[in-house]
Amino acid sequence: MKVFINKRIPEIGITMMEDAGLEVIIPENTNISQEEWLNYCKDANAILNVGQNKFDADFFEKFSNIKAIALYSVGFDHVDIKEANKRNIPVGNTPDVLSRATSDVAFLLMQSVARRASFYFQKVKDNNWGNFDPLSELGQELYGKTLGVFGLGRIGFEMAEKCKKAFEMNIIYHNRNRNEEAENELDAKYVSFDELVEQSDVLSIHANFKPEQSNLFDGPVFKKMKKNAIFINTARGGFHNQKDLYEALVSGEIWGAGLDVTNPEPMEENDPILKLSNVCVLPHIGSATVEARNGMARLAAENLIAFSKGEKMPHIANP
Ligand code: DGY
Repeated sequence: MKVFINKRIPEIGITMMEDAGLEVIIPENTNISQEEWLNYCKDANAILNVGQNKFDADFFEKFSNIKAIALYSVGFDHVDIKEANKRNIPVGNTPDVLSRATSDVAFLLMQSVARRASFYFQKVKDNNWGNFDPLSELGQELYGKTLGVFGLGRIGFEMAEKCKKAFEMNIIYHNRNRNEEAENELDAKYVSFDELVEQSDVLSIHANFKPEQSNLFDGPVFKKMKKNAIFINTARGGFHNQKDLYEALVSGEIWGAGLDVTNPEPMEENDPILKLSNVCVLPHIGSATVEARNGMARLAAENLIAFSKGEKMPHIANP
């Protein structure tokens, strides 16, 4: 079986596949254009995909040679799962191994925003150290505040657990399904979407993104949030309307925002949000640790090896 990988991944994944007899094709220069990417797809039976290349009906129609896709991500919003199902194409993903790393980033952003890290870092860079001022430029503490989790799955659980342990925060959540583990272990309380928005001091998104949720967090939603609220998005930028978020931040409707994902992504260079001192933006680095990336390589390889043996992928997005 020929597997096309569009970028180098940690060696562990490549070795596992080669040891299992799979032929692995990786372009010399992995910064390939869309056209080159499509050319490589012609020659393979399976794809290990790094990044957000789209797998839609058109793709599946053109590349009937592709029999399996292993994503190097937990998110699969760039794959038309219905179309893959129609053609019996398994789509693997990489759950769990990046939950800790991604929730660490949500936690980092929450604290950075609460303690105004971007604002103070800019002052230091501008050689404007400032004097000790008891009254102005103060942050807020998170102890005993309310964390609202939108999408309490594996990553949301890790974030809630950290917030509970570190700051004894109250956990509320909104989800498609009730999460009994979180209710029992973290005393998390299920609330409606409106209650989540209205009651959270920190609102953190951890759901899988679906197109119908595009711009779910928009002007009217930001207006309902508390004035001291911190908005955190480490899931997908499509969840929030970035212009509305900017307005909410400028007008003081919310306290601040921490984004590891933006809308659009990559972010436009002149996006006015970058000028705001109550915002901390990172370039989609949730899973960027050695441990998580090795784990992702291992899971993606396990998926393709299982497929090559005629078995079900162990980590699958379309069971
Ligand atoms: C994921 O795994 O979904 C990360 O967001 C990287 O795309």
